[in-house]
Amino acid sequence: MHPDPSTPTLSADADWWREAVVYQIYIRSFADGNGDGVGDLAGIRSRLPYLAELGVDAVWITPFYPSPMADHGYDVADPRDVEPVFGDLAGFDALLADAHLLGLRVTIDLVPNHTSDHHEWFRAALASPPGSAERARYLFRDGRGPDGAEPPNNWPSVFGGPAWTRVPDGQWYLHLFAPEQPDLDFTNPEVLADLETTMRFWLDRGVDGFRIDVAHGMAKPEGLPDMVPTSDTGLLADHGPGDLRFDQDAVHVVHRRIRTVLDEYPRSMAVGEVWVSDDARLAQYLRADELQLAFNFKLLSAEWEPDALRDAVTHSLAAVAETPAPACWVLSNHDRSRHVSRYGGGPVGLRRARAAALLQLALPGAAYLYNGDELGLPDVDLPDEVLQDPVWERSGRTQRGRDACRVPVPWSGSEPPYGFSSRRDTWLPMPEGWAGLTAEVQAGNPASMQSLYRSALALRRSSQAFTGDLEWLPAAEGCLAFRRTGGLACLVNLSGAPVPLPEGRVLLASADVGGGTLPDDAAVWLHA
Ligand code: NOJ
Repeated sequence: MHPDPSTPTLSADADWWREAVVYQIYIRSFADGNGDGVGDLAGIRSRLPYLAELGVDAVWITPFYPSPMADHGYDVADPRDVEPVFGDLAGFDALLADAHLLGLRVTIDLVPNHTSDHHEWFRAALASPPGSAERARYLFRDGRGPDGAEPPNNWPSVFGGPAWTRVPDGQWYLHLFAPEQPDLDFTNPEVLADLETTMRFWLDRGVDGFRIDVAHGMAKPEGLPDMVPTSDTGLLADHGPGDLRFDQDAVHVVHRRIRTVLDEYPRSMAVGEVWVSDDARLAQYLRADELQLAFNFKLLSAEWEPDALRDAVTHSLAAVAETPAPACWVLSNHDRSRHVSRYGGGPVGLRRARAAALLQLALPGAAYLYNGDELGLPDVDLPDEVLQDPVWERSGRTQRGRDACRVPVPWSGSEPPYGFSSRRDTWLPMPEGWAGLTAEVQAGNPASMQSLYRSALALRRSSQAFTGDLEWLPAAEGCLAFRRTGGLACLVNLSGAPVPLPEGRVLLASADVGGGTLPDDAAVWLHA
């Protein structure tokens, strides 16, 4: 059952993803179809027309597979089924069919690095003795020190605490994330074969591609030696070559296998979550027989500061320059503080986020939006007692984790749950004061963030100006200016004062440019 290439509303373009705008749906928080306070597939299906109208090309849906939710779905108990909280396989098929009819591609998360501790393989491993075939799918090792009471090496879990947990018979198993997320051993052929089975399962149903979780993490070094000691576990940064948990050369064997499967399904693709900051190392994941895209996280990591932003763009373009891949830009996702908040919050954060949207969407390559970017959602200050991210407990309540950026999306109405659910009591509480941020209110306001995104996406889709390479232009101190070969010019002002508009016809601006100047913290698109 291969996807039907004759589906009328999807282009036959094999490389549709090269310039695509992909909308990330954090499923728990997008739309609740059954009134249990948690987003689900039915909710997504009901909001597909909104996404089509917004003007995105594709969606990426975060994990919706059976899961005990120790890491909200990134602990997968069965990668080839649907978690009942989110719906069922028939509901997924219906969503997929509707999306395709609306011209939207559907990509889904693939979580190869680890399973849930509820996965049948892990249960079998626990029930089997050290040295058994069941244990060999994971990374079980004897401990160090007297009686093996010390973990096998010094690796920290990304979520805090050691990356090892001891089982009753004395052995330890590796988990780079929570103890409920045991790492698989990719040197075991059965593990790689199972990943392939999972890919085919979803590709045969018609999905258009995958976002690959921890795509730099599947391979572990021979002998699992100690890494460079660190007090920072790496939740917010990669530590480079001394961090032996990630970016091992053998990971490319896995990516080549993934690509071999994708190549059997025309128009399918994969984007990798590759937290590797070295340009040359990142480029290796984008070789012709590996990933089509890797998130260029430098833009997401950059401060709102002209040199930092220019550097992020330059490095991201340099990283892909010698590869077949385009760049892939992201400002926010479900793991990081939302950019409205990162850029200062309040009216300043919003102004900058508007400008950043025009910056992101003017750059060559693919762009990923996180649900709520188009509404200008900020992080939410949540009280301790509602925090759910495992990071909070694992860090001994020193890091609040990622819940602040995962609060459900406000759709309509003047108080929680703002049309997200029929139930007020949502999985993370929604704040008072979001009435002006709902999708419904913003749709009726030409000055809203949503209207800016709609205009920007429509222009990007319809105009030839958005084609070709990027060339930096001379710009006033504190400003960024560049041009695409197709004719688009983009100016971003971070100088602290208004600057004169350059020559050209204004296509879109993030702030009022009526007086012939571009205000501070604003961006403009011009046709040169
Ligand atoms: C990256 C995902 O984006 C994050 O949410 C998750 O916690 C880890 N990978 C572990 O799967």
